[in-house]
Amino acid sequence: MDPNELADRALDEIAAAADEATLEAVRARYLGRKDGELTRALRGLKDLSPERRAAEGAAANEAKARVDGAISERRAALRAASLERDLGGSREDLSLPPRTVRLGRLHPISRTIREITGIFATMGFESVEGPEVEWDYYNFEALNIPPDHPARDKFSTLWIENTAEVALARTADGGSGGSAPAPAASRPMLLRTHTSPMQIRVMEQRRPPVRVLVPGRCYRFEATDATHETVFFQTEGLAIDEQLSMADLKGVLYSAARQLFGGARKVRFRPDYFPFTEPSAEMAFDCIVCDGSGTTDEGNCRTCGATGWIEWLGCGMVHPKALERVGYDSTRYQGFAFGGGVERIAMLLTGTPDIRLFHENDLRYLESV
Ligand code: PHE
Repeated sequence: MDPNELADRALDEIAAAADEATLEAVRARYLGRKDGELTRALRGLKDLSPERRAAEGAAANEAKARVDGAISERRAALRAASLERDLGGSREDLSLPPRTVRLGRLHPISRTIREITGIFATMGFESVEGPEVEWDYYNFEALNIPPDHPARDKFSTLWIENTAEVALARTADGGSGGSAPAPAASRPMLLRTHTSPMQIRVMEQRRPPVRVLVPGRCYRFEATDATHETVFFQTEGLAIDEQLSMADLKGVLYSAARQLFGGARKVRFRPDYFPFTEPSAEMAFDCIVCDGSGTTDEGNCRTCGATGWIEWLGCGMVHPKALERVGYDSTRYQGFAFGGGVERIAMLLTGTPDIRLFHENDLRYLESV
């Protein structure tokens, strides 16, 4: 039969179908995969000559589309009518469960920063923030790390092309097309490798006594592993006053450690070297994965690199040269500074064995901690 006539007949039956079951039966009769009448007509096209196939094929497909469309429309109408009946004519279905309210939450790193700043706030440290794009001067030079200082090797740096300065140099050139713009090397710019530049910035702005805590993002051009990321957070502490000593530094840090970790966690305090503190020290806590043993059931502990310790922070008494540079009288004022990793604390507080889990942004993980 001509596909168009088939479709007309189908449309009548569709319009007459009083419920979804009848409608489904009509659909099967015309469009059923095996022997729907229209399906068969379409299948028959392949036996026709190419010219006839083109003409009749178009008509048959159009007929099929009409039937498809009519069925969808009728189905929607039947559903709406049946819903209307179920609701007894009322407009709201009070038995429907309410939509769940999806509450957001803080990222574990933000939670940890709040926890740390909260603890230091109780000891009088005000939270301040500073720039992530920094001058070489603050990141290194003013911290007693001149260009050829070996300590620079510790901080694999991501440098930034100082576009403002390049543009300035171009303008100064007057567009004469002469020499190339002066390199920005005169004032190199970088992504800060630690939060310590804020020691200098804060001291430039304030007179003692100073007590600040600086949380913020840092960047290092390094391979990642369980405890290292190229982008990570630190919190920097700085206290300057007239009678501060290493004992104050240790007291503040031990108190913070007890509040953060509880009494059971072991911490280790031992000498270290930084060009901007003298004397310097580092603090570590025992590994949260292997409990300080350095090994797990699977062999060497990957989280602490089999050392049993996770380095937390570097610290020390602010170097007199740094004090003098900002115009403080180093015979009158002393102070201490410390700068530590945030993710490592977050790992400990949430039982996360690998720092990279924080940045993968897999919500299944982030919601579980
Ligand atoms: N900024 C140092 C680092 O990232 C740590 C540090 C901070 C050391 C403050 C001493 C004083 O390694």
